[in-house]
Amino acid sequence: MNQAGKTVFFRKDYKAPEYSIEKIDLNFQLYDTKTKVTAISCVRRNNKENRSPLILNGENLQLISVKIDGNVLSSSEYILDNTSLTVLTPPAVFELEIVTEIYPQENKALEGLYQSGPIFCTQCEAEGFRKITYYPDRPDILAVFTTRIEADVEKCPVMLSNGNLIETGSVEEGGRHFVVWKDPFPKPCYLFALVAGRLSCVNDEFITSSGRAVDLKIYVEEKNLNKCDHAMVSLKKAMEWDEKTYGLEYDLDTYMIVAVDDFNMGAMENKGLNIFNSKYVLTSPETATDEDYIGVEGVIAHEYFHNWTGNRVTCRDWFQLSLKEGLTVFRDQNFSAEMNSPTVQRIKDVQILRNFQFREDSGPMAHPVRPETYEEINNFYTVTVYNKGAEVVRMVQTLLGREGFRKGMDLYFHRHDGQAVTCDDFIAAMADATGTDLEQFKNWYCQAGTPVLEVSSHWEADSSSFHLTVTQNCPDTPGQKGKNKKPFHIPLALGLMTENGKDLFGKNGCKTEILHLKEQKQTFTFTNIAEKPVVSFLRDFSAPVDVKTFQQDEELAFLMKYDSNLYNRWESATRLSASTILDVVRQLEKGTPIQFNELFFDGVLHSITEKIEDPALLALALELPPETALALQLDSVDPDLLFQGRTIIKRELATRFQNEFLFLYINNQEAGKYRISPEAMGRRRLKNCALSYLMSLNPPQDKFLQLCIDQFSKSANMTDTITALRLISHHPGTTRDALFTDFYRKWEHDSLVMDKWFAIQAMSSHENCLSTVKHLLSDRLFSMENPNKVRALIGAFSSGNHVQFHAINGEGYSFLADMILQLDSINPQIAARLVSPLTNWKRYEKRRQILMKKELERIAKKPGLSPDVSEIVNKSR
Ligand code: TRP
Ligand code: ZN
Repeated sequence: MNQAGKTVFFRKDYKAPEYSIEKIDLNFQLYDTKTKVTAISCVRRNNKENRSPLILNGENLQLISVKIDGNVLSSSEYILDNTSLTVLTPPAVFELEIVTEIYPQENKALEGLYQSGPIFCTQCEAEGFRKITYYPDRPDILAVFTTRIEADVEKCPVMLSNGNLIETGSVEEGGRHFVVWKDPFPKPCYLFALVAGRLSCVNDEFITSSGRAVDLKIYVEEKNLNKCDHAMVSLKKAMEWDEKTYGLEYDLDTYMIVAVDDFNMGAMENKGLNIFNSKYVLTSPETATDEDYIGVEGVIAHEYFHNWTGNRVTCRDWFQLSLKEGLTVFRDQNFSAEMNSPTVQRIKDVQILRNFQFREDSGPMAHPVRPETYEEINNFYTVTVYNKGAEVVRMVQTLLGREGFRKGMDLYFHRHDGQAVTCDDFIAAMADATGTDLEQFKNWYCQAGTPVLEVSSHWEADSSSFHLTVTQNCPDTPGQKGKNKKPFHIPLALGLMTENGKDLFGKNGCKTEILHLKEQKQTFTFTNIAEKPVVSFLRDFSAPVDVKTFQQDEELAFLMKYDSNLYNRWESATRLSASTILDVVRQLEKGTPIQFNELFFDGVLHSITEKIEDPALLALALELPPETALALQLDSVDPDLLFQGRTIIKRELATRFQNEFLFLYINNQEAGKYRISPEAMGRRRLKNCALSYLMSLNPPQDKFLQLCIDQFSKSANMTDTITALRLISHHPGTTRDALFTDFYRKWEHDSLVMDKWFAIQAMSSHENCLSTVKHLLSDRLFSMENPNKVRALIGAFSSGNHVQFHAINGEGYSFLADMILQLDSINPQIAARLVSPLTNWKRYEKRRQILMKKELERIAKKPGLSPDVSEIVNKSR
């Protein structure tokens, strides 16, 4: 227990389970007001000698009866409390029957069995199965599940569970029917799933490389049947990719996906029966943006890839979460890179890392990729476990090479198929398959914090040699002093370029060398370097580190134009624009007259007037870094000055290059039919980026406003429609109001589209934004019980509207605290995720610090605060 009286779990305390469960037969009887669950398990004691009690987890359950081998247990034979059922002296091998009653229609936490509208569905990861029946709810207990579901024929014509359908029939009781599903693969209970309701389905088929036919089914509400094509195509692409890339085939005869509107996260990889947030299934050109299309493809692939990395080989305990999540994110990123543009994909992956993970890693919730301790595991489904975890796997691939990595994956599956294992097991397979020493590399799993690299170099004309010195330091993180951390093994992808843009390395056509940084300070020497080279450092972001800028603006401007590594062109452009903005922020702070960094403007002009090779890359380079990312580079953030500085640069660019932006806007219009190819998406992105510059002019110009209105009213695709609406949202007035009303009328029947309507208003930089947001809380389409709505309105305001959320009157903070307190009693997981923008209060200037801290204190005081919110609030204050 900690000071707040909460139970704390430690990785070092892991113990193998006392009992195993070989199989479990579940019987669900679904009714309007309650569900009866009968669970019959075959239990076996692992340890022959000591006769320890059997401890089962259980929460919010109404226990009806417990039987062992058919005999009802008397109340003296077990102990029941709020979180467990303990059978005191069970035999060595026995059949355990437990009957419970649960109330899915009252379940607003969306964990366990709940209803999304009229549809029954489950979410068991991480610890939701204990809200269905008493069971040893831990991932290292693998059992064969058979599931019988019985319900009303009218209300639940479709009833699904994991595996294969083995029986159907009607029940004597009027108007009811049943199904029986059997999943032949032993699995942990977090992968259990049940769905029942009125659903329609889209069917397709995939023939595996060994020639087996797999039925593919996507279940949605009938009105959405025409929005499943892209999801289905994505699924088939993912199945093919996994065969081609890793030799991994699907293993059941059916693969089912169900879309529901109420879901805490993106989707869930339940064996053979994925359950998805409908946001990651449904698309159509009129309703989904390019980003949505890419998101659907990525999440469908992610959940599919879990079938091997997560399900066939699963986690021993929840501290190992990155074993499945880091690896699966790595796999879905590579898949998306191959389906779209590798450079664009890499940039987006790095943006997530820099804009969110670096922030987490520098704040009070920082934790290693494999955490040492937690209070509520749901709080550790983080960007660190997922995205930094993926970077760690990527570094393994960089160190071993693609072939070596594949050998490691093969060995990993060969050794561990059907097992629950650890991150160490994964690294051991990689090391053993290739004969590589990865001992030092493992520090990435146990040390939190973003390593900071400092680089210096000098070129010696006499000896034609070049020396590059790199130091690494890792900051303090909760419970780990930086000075006690061991150096990381860091792969540095390096290019050296001549002044006329040629690469100096050229072995086998590879212009990049991988250096191994293993010491705290190391010097790398290169010979036969006849002229002073320009350093292209950390190509493709070869490690999740923070490199202090060591190059002059001239060099960055050069790299931005000529680096043969396209990722690094973007990197240099971003460094240059960030430093240009932060320069202005510093001048605003001092009150000195503003002077611009002309090199930056020259670079931008060059990039928008040159022949455009890749519109998407140009758009990414022109989009200025968000305030949240810039804030990380300041010691004491004043959000008003930051916003002003960024706006000044944006306007200055727009003013100077109006004609060029207008030219880009006109020339990148899509001729002909709407497409979602990477090229078409790239052009839309560039066109809309140009429009966003034109719309940032001050005072606004009517002709550009008209362009924007025209785009809104003529566009037949949501990307263009919503961009126009977003750009206009920053300009209050009757035009703006009319467009929002228009949009509402047109889309009020489509919940996912309306999420965009809420989010855009919540992200308006206008100062009446918060009052609009408060007003929207009572819109009839808003609901605190729907996580997508909460994210769209409250989440968008607090984490997507830096300047208004941080308004100096503190009202943004107190609003968020009110919402968290209200949500805590409805859905603790969602409430806890909302706390994050308050946790980094130490980064802000004094007055805001006090205001933010005050709200954290106020939340902490709520009697009966959930463990989810409590952990984050108490670690942050
Ligand atoms: N395992 C899921 C994924 O990454 C994540 C997930 C879905 C989840 N629903 C959840 C995690 C609920 C915690 C709680 O694909
Ligand atoms: Zn996942």
